[in-house]
Amino acid sequence: MASDGESAKFCLNLHNYFCPMKQVTYNGLTFEPYITRERIQARIEELAREITAEFAGKKPLFLCVLNGAAPFASELFLNVETDAEITFIRLKSYEGTSSTGTVKEVMGLTEDIAGRPVIVVEDIVDTGNTIRRLVDDLEARNPAQVKIATLLFKPESLRCDVTPDYVGFAIPPKFIIGYGLDLDGLARNLKDIYVLKEAAD
Ligand code: IMP
Ligand code: MG
Repeated sequence: MASDGESAKFCLNLHNYFCPMKQVTYNGLTFEPYITRERIQARIEELAREITAEFAGKKPLFLCVLNGAAPFASELFLNVETDAEITFIRLKSYEGTSSTGTVKEVMGLTEDIAGRPVIVVEDIVDTGNTIRRLVDDLEARNPAQVKIATLLFKPESLRCDVTPDYVGFAIPPKFIIGYGLDLDGLARNLKDIYVLKEAAD
C-alpha cells in the first residue's frame, strides 16, 4: 500500500509527463517552462549549419561531455552535413583534494586528437571552470584546434577565461533543467527546458 507521500510523488511524475509545458516539480522544487523543444531544435539546426560551413572537408571530432550534453550533442551531430566523428567523455570530480576544491580528470578519451579539429560539446557553461580545465587538458594533446559548442551559457556567472564559440542560448544566472540538464540526476529526459521558479515576494 503506497503512503500518501508516495502517491503524491507518483501523481506529480504523471503530471510531469502528461502536461509537458506545465510547471514541473522535482525534489520539492518547482520549475516553469522556459525554452520549448521547437526553439531548441531550430537553434541547434542553425548552429549545425554554421559548423557545417566552417568545418567542411576538415572532418571535425565532436567530443560530447557526458552526461548532460548527450541530447544536445546527438541532435547537433545529426544535423551537421559534412564528414565528422563523435566520441564521448566524462569528467571525474574529486572533492577536497586541492585548495581549489574540485579536480576534474578526463575519462574515456581514447582517440588520438593530435592534428585534428575538436569541437567540445557541453550542455551548459556556468562559471566556466569545467570547460576551462577540459580545454587545457585537450590542448596539451596538440589538436589542430579546439572549439566549444554549448547549448546554454550564463555569461554573468563566468569566472574563467573562456569564450564559447557556438552558443545555443545565453541565459541569466538561473538554475535550469531538462533536455539533458539535471537536478540530482533527475529531469534530464524533459523534452523542453525549465527554469527554477522564484519564490513570490
Ligand atoms: P561550470 O564548471 O561552473 O561552468 O559548470 C558546469 C556544470 O555545472 C555543467 O556541466 C552542469 O553539469 C552544471 N550546471 C551549471 N548550471 C546548471 C543549471 O542551471 N542546471 C543544471 N546543471 C547546471
Ligand atoms: Mg555537464
